[in-house]
Amino acid sequence: MSTQNPRRVERQQTDKGYVPVYTTAVVEQPWDDYSAADHRTWATLFQRQREVLKGRACREFIENQERFGMRADAIPRFEDLNRVLNYTTGWEVVGVEGLLPELEFFKHLSNRRFPVTWWIRRPEQLDYLAEPDLFHDLFGHVPLLLNPVFANYMQAYGQGGVKAYGIGADALVNLTRLYWYTVEFGLIRQDGDLRIYGSGIVSSKGESIHCLESPAPNRIAFDMERIMRTRYRIDTFQKTYFVIDSFEQLMDATAPDFTPIYARLARQDSIPAGAVLDSDTVIQRGSGEGWAKDGDV
Ligand code: PHE
Ligand code: CO
Repeated sequence: MSTQNPRRVERQQTDKGYVPVYTTAVVEQPWDDYSAADHRTWATLFQRQREVLKGRACREFIENQERFGMRADAIPRFEDLNRVLNYTTGWEVVGVEGLLPELEFFKHLSNRRFPVTWWIRRPEQLDYLAEPDLFHDLFGHVPLLLNPVFANYMQAYGQGGVKAYGIGADALVNLTRLYWYTVEFGLIRQDGDLRIYGSGIVSSKGESIHCLESPAPNRIAFDMERIMRTRYRIDTFQKTYFVIDSFEQLMDATAPDFTPIYARLARQDSIPAGAVLDSDTVIQRGSGEGWAKDGDV
């Protein structure tokens, strides 16, 4: 396959320096070019989140992150992570410049390749940035790729993505909401408590605390079609978190062919991010505190 033996077309100047660019848009991790400041950014975020996530992240996240032997003192090398991934679930991380076009992203996932942004945020962006960087992708997404059930879910999602792409724009919107409210912002019930598994949460100090401890957001039991109708914002804390009981539940619920589901959803209205429906199984109803009055999501 071409991505396993990529052909370099040129070296491109990006705002972070020169990186080799391949025909597949997969880039080599320019590990030797990371600055001392880059490694310090990793160290600061790594230490901070490991502390915050004690008792907050689900056990699969913590245990699997430890299995990689990621440390604070240096940005991990993709090749080291890939050795561990390869003999456990057969996943692999590949370097990319940042967010990929949807179809490109789905194809990587369906081949058990997880695209990781090669660059890390600047020191003044420790608390927030509007797009995924190396810290979000590596620290947030990669650990659960060692969990066999979650690893299969990610691949199935990629395959479903390729299919939805062929069906049309509305199907893609529905499917993307599912990713958002599970892979990025999902909560899981464990030993009677809520725990985090979503990557968008675990890579954010503010949201790691907010999602579990703030009275503002709703926490609602996972309901696949409900989620696929629910709008979201990418630039604020979520108004609603959906809670699964296990990764098996996620896998089983998403196993059916979505084609008839997309057709059904196309005839239903979308749901605002903060709404609570009579049909919801509400774990905790949010107070809505701090939400903009005119927020239309
Ligand atoms: N079963 C879905 C389909 O047929 C694919 C999918 C699996 C989507 C897992 C999301 C998660 O489209
Ligand atoms: Co992400």
